[in-house]
This record gives sequence, C-alpha cells and structure tokens, in this order.
Amino acid sequence: MTHRLALRTLLDAAAEKLQSSGNDMAEAVADALVQTTLPADGPPPATVRPCEALTAAVAHSNDPLFGRAVEALLSLPWRAPGFGRLPARLADRMAVVELLGPTGYIRHKAVRVGFLFQDAQLGYPPHSHAAEEIYLLLQGQADWQIDGRPIGLCRAGKLVHHLPWQPHAMQTAKEPLLALWAWRGEIGADHYRLEAPASCGAGGPPGSAEP
Ligand SMILES: [Fe+2]
Repeated sequence: MTHRLALRTLLDAAAEKLQSSGNDMAEAVADALVQTTLPADGPPPATVRPCEALTAAVAHSNDPLFGRAVEALLSLPWRAPGFGRLPARLADRMAVVELLGPTGYIRHKAVRVGFLFQDAQLGYPPHSHAAEEIYLLLQGQADWQIDGRPIGLCRAGKLVHHLPWQPHAMQTAKEPLLALWAWRGEIGADHYRLEAPASCGAGGPPGSAEP
C-alpha cells in the first residue's frame, strides 16, 4: 500500500467514525475529509522531527489501521503545537500536523483538520481559542478537562467537543495520545491563547507547566 493510499484509508476510517457520532461539527468535518483529494506529490518536510515516542506509539498500535498508516503519518509535515506559545519542554514532546487548513498540507479556507501527538506523562496546559473544536482520539488516552472541570479519562474512539473560547486541557499518563483534531469558525492562529495556570485543576501533574 502506498503512503497516499494508507493515509486515504486512515482519513476515510476517521470520517466514518465522525459521521456516526451524532455531532454536527463532526459530521461536517467528516464531509471535508471525504471530499479531500490528497496531493499526488509528497508532503513538504516536517519542521519538527516526529519524535521516537510517536514512532513507537503508532508502530506498536494494535489497530491494523495504524499499522498500515504508520509511514504515511510519520511522513506528514509535523510542526510544534501551540503557535509558538508553548514552552519548549512541552512543545518538544508534542507535535501537530495541519492536514487541511489555511496553512495546511492541503489548503482549505473554512476548516483546519490534522493530527496531534502528545507524549506520555505530559500535560497540555489549559488553553482556548475562538475556533470551535473537536478531537477524535485515535490511540492512547488522556484525562481531559473542560472549563476547568475534569470530564474523565478519554480513550481511543472518544469524540471531545470544545466550544469557542472554552478552556480545555489534557494530561496523559503511561500512554501517549494520538488524536485527529479539527477547527471551524474563527480558525485564525491569532485567536489562540494559553489560560492562566490557576484555571488548571489537575494540580501540577508530571511534565505540566504554565506558559
Ligand atoms: Fe483546542
């Protein structure tokens, strides 16, 4: 299977999960994914090297879908998350891809859709943005907070929905997290911010840090 076909298979599988979620944003994102034509040319080079943890997490997945998609995922243009606003000790253990979007591998004006990797034992501090957002967890798990309140442990297959400017945070434990994410609405990078550390109720988990 070529990289392009493997990625197509992964996107179609994600779209199928989103379409059956009953969430209208997820359904809209699924439509965008299904309608996306992957470029025949390979993606541009990553600005951050997919870390070893990402390679291991995807390669050792029990999900055969990831087994086929691992090389395609790793070949994508990964970059640091947080639009340069996360401290290096966090950003260095995370990576994000904008597959669709204004600055994405595939140009799209209305949505941003991509993947996020968060290493094990790491807290993505509370942050918010003007864009409405969904996450579809693909592999691993994380304790999730929305509006400063825990919503529990979220595992692969879970859909999480954040409203515009709704603070949210994710804390991994033994397993890293790989998720598909999407934004719609006001998707400009200028409308993203880290929240004050006091709004995090997780109590300073390992690896967490305020901006
Ligand atoms: Fe977010």
